Amino acid sequence: MAMPTLGILGSGSGSNMQAILDAIASGNLDARIGIVLSDNPGAHILERARQNRIRAEVIDCSGQRTRFPDEAQEETARKLREAGVDLVCLAGFMRLVKRPLLDAFPARILNIHPSLLPAFPGLEAWRQAVEAGVSESGVTVHLVDAGMDTGPILGQESVAVFPDDTPETLHARIRIAEHRLYPETVRQYAAHLKL
Ligand code: GRF
Repeated sequence: MAMPTLGILGSGSGSNMQAILDAIASGNLDARIGIVLSDNPGAHILERARQNRIRAEVIDCSGQRTRFPDEAQEETARKLREAGVDLVCLAGFMRLVKRPLLDAFPARILNIHPSLLPAFPGLEAWRQAVEAGVSESGVTVHLVDAGMDTGPILGQESVAVFPDDTPETLHARIRIAEHRLYPETVRQYAAHLKL
């Protein structure tokens, strides 16, 4: 298998992208990151990418607060293709990906979600877990489809929820699991792709 080129989409701090970069640097993941795109011009993920000499650009969502307009998805697909991307990793990307982008990368878009799906889809899954009083939550990497956190599951890791956990303490523990699971699942999935 040839070495895959990854494209990362993120809206926030980019710690999952960093975990992927660290796995590449330590030889645990044979891949390269070709481009990082963000819908949020102030996102730290862009700065991190540039520090690592990775092409980093903003996706213009025409002032839409939460929607991912079709034109913006087409532009995203164009940039990803231009960068030679084989596999797209959503890493804290806060907009729902729909047809234009899904059609451009069929079965080639992965997402990391901070719960054991199908439990707690949607926003702030760690808070949902604490509020529901469960004793176990976790992390899921899945293929992206048109639903919200509904695509086929590729990997999961469970994380204990303690009685004295706050959403913040649980999220901190979940992040540690995310940073292990995402690079490892990308490695396994990419190994089965014909590139
Ligand atoms: C992660 O908790 C991820 O599961 C969620 O958003 C957060 C992104 O964090 N979807 P980061 O930008 O990778 O640091």
